[in-house]
Amino acid sequence: MQAQATTWFPWKDAYSVQVPEIDAQHKRLVEIINRLQDAMLQGQGKNVINSVLVDLEEYAKYHFSFEEDLLRRHAYPKMLTQEAQHRSFESKLGQFRADYNSASITMSVSVMDFLRDWLTRHIMQEDRAYSAHMVAALGK
Ligand SMILES: [Fe+2]
Repeated sequence: MQAQATTWFPWKDAYSVQVPEIDAQHKRLVEIINRLQDAMLQGQGKNVINSVLVDLEEYAKYHFSFEEDLLRRHAYPKMLTQEAQHRSFESKLGQFRADYNSASITMSVSVMDFLRDWLTRHIMQEDRAYSAHMVAALGK
């Protein structure tokens, strides 16, 4: 039997923001980033890597708009900061895919580290900052 490969970027309970829909979306983002890491390590072709990048970009956009909608409906006071951080990451991702497709960058350990660090920071700092507000607002 083949040994189970270790997940490069494992989900941790500490990432929970105590809002189940958001946790599920964050898990999905973690999963896409792991898929990108696998594709890079296995030396997958450009088309495969590009399609994982498209998935990441699309899912991040969906997640951000869901999150912003929820926070807005519950009058989160730091909304503007949250939105600015989301727009900045969206443009970073778009730029990153464009650079990859124009061959001015290659998939590398440093790119993967950037994505993992970004998502960890998004969850652990930006999103955990609204956790208490949302738990109170949702009456859980
Ligand atoms: Fe988030």
